[in-house]
Amino acid sequence: MSTPTDQALFSAAEAIRAKAYAPYSKFKVGAAILADDGTIYSGCNIENAAYPQGNCAETSAIAAMIAGGGKRITRIYVTGPGKAPVTPCGGCRQRIREFANLDVTVISHGIEGEPLTCTLEQLLPHSFGPEFLGK
Ligand code: THU
Repeated sequence: MSTPTDQALFSAAEAIRAKAYAPYSKFKVGAAILADDGTIYSGCNIENAAYPQGNCAETSAIAAMIAGGGKRITRIYVTGPGKAPVTPCGGCRQRIREFANLDVTVISHGIEGEPLTCTLEQLLPHSFGPEFLGK
């Protein structure tokens, strides 16, 4: 069952996914964050001819959130091609961890299939976070 919030997040992720710059992989990804300020921030992947310099959609969405004044991720929705859920990569799981509680819901959706809903803790068990450094 999809809530109005998830429909809004899906729409935002899909709208920005259309703008993704992915000439190398051709795998366009969108991410939409519901932040603690009630705003939806979104981002897409931005690849680079020097491959490691590319950004994931989740990284771009986090950058938009911080630039826009949001501080915490309360829910995040990721969309991409295909049937399999497009789950955040390992690096992005850690980036989300910086700004989200472990019980935050992460929805991963390959738009030809069904969305996968899990918590950040399920995606990144036994994780390291800001509290280890006293933050
Ligand atoms: N990608 C994302 O932006 N987010 C994900 O969750 C998975 C992968 C991007 C990185 C790269 O531009 C392309 O998808 C193929 O890996």
